[in-house]
Amino acid sequence: MATPYRLLFVCLGNICRSPAAEGVMRAMLEAQGFADRVSIRSAGTAGWHVGKLPDQRMRTAAQNRGYDLSSRARQVTDNDLRDYDLVLVMDRQNLRDVRSYDRESLFDAKIRLFCDFCTDHQESEVPDPYYGGEQGFELVLDLLEDGCRGVLAHVSSTLT
Ligand code: 4NP
Repeated sequence: MATPYRLLFVCLGNICRSPAAEGVMRAMLEAQGFADRVSIRSAGTAGWHVGKLPDQRMRTAAQNRGYDLSSRARQVTDNDLRDYDLVLVMDRQNLRDVRSYDRESLFDAKIRLFCDFCTDHQESEVPDPYYGGEQGFELVLDLLEDGCRGVLAHVSSTLT
């Protein structure tokens, strides 16, 4: 079988937005029969929560929409930009932080803002929900469901 397409979602802590993106994307890939053709992971630019499950508020909001979030947080590594085909970041600070790993700008084309793939929402970033209320987590999921549909279309067009 061909090498899977490798997709990495990145946020700050890797306990809210990017693990939720991973869960939403995995569910969509499974529903379309692409689960074994695309490998997905998430990471944080900060290392504060390494090894932890996603934030309970994010897990509950995701569970209510049928997504199981069970990945363990990890920090972005030097090798990620080489190893992944597409690195989708949640906000512009994540973009700056991930680009700082790419000192020679070799991988610019594969680092993209997640919201570039949204079609139903105008937001250009997925807002950090950590210090806010419940509705922040719902907005994260709304944006992720929108953007992941776009990501799915993009990725499936590259699979032969
Ligand atoms: P995330 O949210 O980047 O979507 O995982 C955050 C999680 C933790 C913190 C900030 C944002 N924190 O400050 O610990």
